[in-house]
Amino acid sequence: MKLLITGGAGFIGANFVRHILETYPDYKLINYDKLTYAGNLENLAGLEDNRNYTFVRGDIADRKQVGEVMSAGVDVVLNFAAESHVDRSLEEAAVFIGTNVLGTQVLLEAALKHKVDRFIQISTDEVYGSLGPSGSFTEKTPLSPNSPYAATKAAADLMVRAYFESFSVQAIITRCSNNYGPYQFPEKLIPLFITNALENIPLPVYGDGLYIRDWIHVIDHCRALDLALHRGKPGEIYNIGGGSERTNLEITKLILKHLKKSESLITHVKDRPGHDRRYAIDCSKIKEELGFETSMTLEKGLKQTMDWYIQNRPWWEKVRSGEYREYYHRHYADREKTFER
Ligand code: NAD
Ligand code: TYD
Repeated sequence: MKLLITGGAGFIGANFVRHILETYPDYKLINYDKLTYAGNLENLAGLEDNRNYTFVRGDIADRKQVGEVMSAGVDVVLNFAAESHVDRSLEEAAVFIGTNVLGTQVLLEAALKHKVDRFIQISTDEVYGSLGPSGSFTEKTPLSPNSPYAATKAAADLMVRAYFESFSVQAIITRCSNNYGPYQFPEKLIPLFITNALENIPLPVYGDGLYIRDWIHVIDHCRALDLALHRGKPGEIYNIGGGSERTNLEITKLILKHLKKSESLITHVKDRPGHDRRYAIDCSKIKEELGFETSMTLEKGLKQTMDWYIQNRPWWEKVRSGEYREYYHRHYADREKTFER
């Protein structure tokens, strides 16, 4: 099988690239990524000479280049590429529309033209909006996004649905809860707080810190996507969750305890506008229909993640200093592989 993975240099995409290459030695994989601030080819260090792996730098909203890549023959598209950070979407929403909405439509159009067998849209539980103290999102929960990020992901989901209904593009949408794990850019809660704590920098908790998220280890998200890829039914939506609801303060205290740092590092700061109070996900459909089960508890996964950030300090120090951008120029710029391979 030949997979086109967009956004494979980001956090979840890179973990998925590694998962596929390790699990399916016969698969060929093209990683198509624009390398925005969130794209870091060091996340894929060691794969440069893998014959089954090809990197192409490009924008998913670039019709011409997307068409060229898909015309080389692709069986499945998995669209991870996105602007993914809520706080950035509050500052500058336009780039979110360009990538998350327009980019998805460009990929769908090319998938239709080049008769791609399957299209997997990696979406988020944030499209459903916010919950009160009880209940959880099912695949039938109405879309009610509250941030510009979530609004663009919801718009992309609707475009995917439209291409399935109107043109029979064999598309599947997955909606996952908050991920954590190796290679996550230290702007999101867990990697920001781990790296700040390791440097004894205050941890900025928004508002009262009692906002609730459901957390899933990125490896479990990748395992669920693997099931959707191989066993999912086109036209369907699958929720993916970790079954681990925690308040932000609970997560913060777990991190400080494991790293043996003082809770005095906790600093309550101004709240995020439109901050969703609670996410919780009902993922009984993917469990019952595709046999998905998570492989680790939050406590185990978080401990493993903290150990990864301790052991891979140079990785995040280079991200923080901006030096990570050099990796592409040093390892790829002169010898970027072509998509004919
Ligand atoms: P990320 O920000 O770490 O990575 C995004 C990647 O997309 C980067 O490599 C970036 O360079 C690339 N990219 C951005 N714009 C592009 C464009 N126009 N063309 C090509 N590449 C582009 O994001 P992530 O956390 O790995 O999330 C991946 C996907 O999963 C996103 O679609 C996101 O909405 C979704 N998701 C994320 C989470 C989470 O907790 N992180 C949860 C559920 C769903
Ligand atoms: P984040 O990791 O940005 O994911 P999302 O907003 O997509 O859920 O944030 C997770 C939670 O942590 C959310 O309730 C906002 C909160 N948060 C903080 O309290 N401080 C921070 O510095 C960040 C980045 C997030």
